[in-house]
Amino acid sequence: MFQNQPVSFSGVQPSGNLTIGNYLGAIRNFSHFSENYKCFYCVVDEHAITVRQVPAELRRRTYETLALYMACGLDPEKNTLYVQSQVPAHAELGWILNCFTMFGELSRMTQFKDKSAKHADNINAGLFTYPVLMAADILLYQTDVVPVGIDQKQHVEICRDIATRFNQLYPDTFTIPEPVIPKSGMKIMSLAEPTKKMSKSDENTNAVVYILDDRDTIIRKFKRAVTDSGTEVRYAEGKDGINNLMTIYASFTGKTFEEIEREFEGKGYGDFKLAVGEVCADALAPVQDTFKRYISDKAMLEAQMKKGAQEASYYANRTLSKVQKKLGFVQVRG
Ligand code: TYM
Repeated sequence: MFQNQPVSFSGVQPSGNLTIGNYLGAIRNFSHFSENYKCFYCVVDEHAITVRQVPAELRRRTYETLALYMACGLDPEKNTLYVQSQVPAHAELGWILNCFTMFGELSRMTQFKDKSAKHADNINAGLFTYPVLMAADILLYQTDVVPVGIDQKQHVEICRDIATRFNQLYPDTFTIPEPVIPKSGMKIMSLAEPTKKMSKSDENTNAVVYILDDRDTIIRKFKRAVTDSGTEVRYAEGKDGINNLMTIYASFTGKTFEEIEREFEGKGYGDFKLAVGEVCADALAPVQDTFKRYISDKAMLEAQMKKGAQEASYYANRTLSKVQKKLGFVQVRG
């Protein structure tokens, strides 16, 4: 579709303040593809409403997520940055793909099981078909790679299954995408319960480090992080708290676990926690400075959204029209 350039696609929900999990697991890696891939990065507001949102907060976070994409180094001249609800083809292809997705396969999705346990009073159909809309996002752009954290792997796999099934019935429709999961930072855990994923919707804000937390807050949260009763900084089975802090330190510094163990030999957990807080705060400071500039310029962000939605719609509509034709929908021109 893009003169033989491969395509990268990913999305982030504006459903809470973004965390260092979102940064290390996903957003930081989006820019690796900017030079050699045609890149589409989307703010997936339609996915966010599968859980109740306060409208004013959803609106604010949609602007913030776009500003954060840019502050994390995604140049809108090199990447198509846009908001999902501004490109209607996503919802349209989502409906079509619903008719090629089985009830049984959606019932097996672990995120659906987790979220329906958490929101037992609102197990809506959108929550159930969430992975189908995600498949539509990806397949509309004939995507080759999907940079995500490991928690989204199962969703990319069902997307591949849906695309393969569709291609068997209607050959040569979709490119089959591959998930690209970072080696380090694929799953950052909660600082309070290190067996649980760090999540932007966690009610305990001390368990989560947000990309926009100030330096003192970041250092305080790491100081309080739950660890075991040992003292040695060593990666080992069952030491979930320390393992998580080592993963975070490794992700920010590029050091291996062996290097980290050597660096902190003879020092206690206290020194290590402070060091993790410092590298995290240092790495986020330039992102935060740039973010502040962008978020104060709403007109610029709206112009970017408009430009992004126009670019994305052009490519999305090409795939949608191809799919509609294959299915037998009547297309009248002019
Ligand atoms: P969301 O908004 O939950 O998360 C955005 C990205 O951040 C990654 N992530 C993490 N990585 C490591 N450690 C963590 N603790 C952590 N928490 C989140 C996620 O893996 C994700 O890559 N369904 C997606 C949004 C989506 C999407 C798409 C992604 C909609 N359509 C199409 C890719 C392609 C989601 O809920 O992301």
